[in-house]
Amino acid sequence: MTIPPPRSPGDPATWRPATQAVRGGLERGPHGETSEAIFLNSGFTYDSAEIAEGRFTGDAPGHVYSRYSNPNLSMFETRMALLEGSEAARATGSGMAAVTASLLALLRAGDHVVAARALFGSCRWVIEHFLPRFGVESTLVDGADPRAWEMAVRKNSRAFFLETPANPTLAIVDIPAIAKIARAAGAKLIVDNVFATPIFQKPLLLGADIVVYSATKHIDGQGRVLGGVICGSQQFIDGDLKDICRHTGPALSPFSAWILAKGLETLDLRVRRQSETAALLADLLADAPGIARVFYPGRTDHPGHAIARAQMSGFSNLIAFRMKGGKAAAFAFLNALGIVDISNNLGDSRSLATHPATTTHRNMSPGARAEIGVSEDLIRLSVGLEDPADLAADMNAALGVAGG
Ligand SMILES: Cc1ncc(COP(=O)(O)O)c(C=O)c1O
Repeated sequence: MTIPPPRSPGDPATWRPATQAVRGGLERGPHGETSEAIFLNSGFTYDSAEIAEGRFTGDAPGHVYSRYSNPNLSMFETRMALLEGSEAARATGSGMAAVTASLLALLRAGDHVVAARALFGSCRWVIEHFLPRFGVESTLVDGADPRAWEMAVRKNSRAFFLETPANPTLAIVDIPAIAKIARAAGAKLIVDNVFATPIFQKPLLLGADIVVYSATKHIDGQGRVLGGVICGSQQFIDGDLKDICRHTGPALSPFSAWILAKGLETLDLRVRRQSETAALLADLLADAPGIARVFYPGRTDHPGHAIARAQMSGFSNLIAFRMKGGKAAAFAFLNALGIVDISNNLGDSRSLATHPATTTHRNMSPGARAEIGVSEDLIRLSVGLEDPADLAADMNAALGVAGG
């Protein structure tokens, strides 16, 4: 029997995103396993002291310790980089570890950050309260106003940070416009792309330098593990960031990396279906008498709709809405939901709703919350994979109880 040469799948960089999300980075072992094997080990062994030395100097290929790298982390990172269109990626133990490590890699004492005001509560805390401990100042601006970004620039501005759509109000920031200002200022633009997902928005193609994710959200998408990932140039990922991740230890567990790589395989299907349902529910909510305002970037009444249309290929599975009856009505609505769970997580296959002012954004002052539209009557809904008709019935029943 003649054994033919190994089959070649071609260059993964030329595959379309759905193929990259299923097959990118797959490294099969000697057993030819269909699914990725799990490498649940902290350390690695070497056939000789010379090989150990070579692995540490980087002259011999291979892993040395799972805080540094691991086959499951590499598979997840390669798959993410392909999907994001970045040269490289670095996985972390949570989304906040990804946000913090990317800022720390760019900044030094005496530097300045410009960031959008409308950010997830912990991202705001890192920028407003944590970075100043190390001599880094910041200016928070209205993300939707390019002029405000321009005005905030100082000689020492080294990083710009934004989320679009933002958590929880789905405020939209014009990525190409802000990327241009960052470039002129000599600063790197970091985009937290959690709400958009890599399926609907590619910040690097729009001019951003670095993209960060809480992989806990849509990438896992089934409420199982925490994780984060940073995508950017090889130079950035292998520069200070690599040393920071290796030596301060925000490592992702190999098991979680395996879960997240499997999550990517169904990401495209999940977020498209969830967003289709979200568009239906956003219209249902907008027509309900007890709702004061709906924020969904796919609707023409969203102030950022035109920019969202230009830079996103879909509009996310998240909806925010204000109840006419204030906090009491918002709580009554949440308590009356039968299918949708009350939870501060998002991007899950199960629909989840939360009251941001008392949960995800409760650490901000009432004034700071008011500035970004996190009012007492606001609810954030993350639409899942349940049947749209069941979700609509759940919404209608809860609106009936809450006075909507
Ligand atoms: C926009 C955004 N960025 C970052 C994070 C932090 O992610 P993690 O909870 O995985 O640390 C979250 C979490 O809710 C988020 O919504």
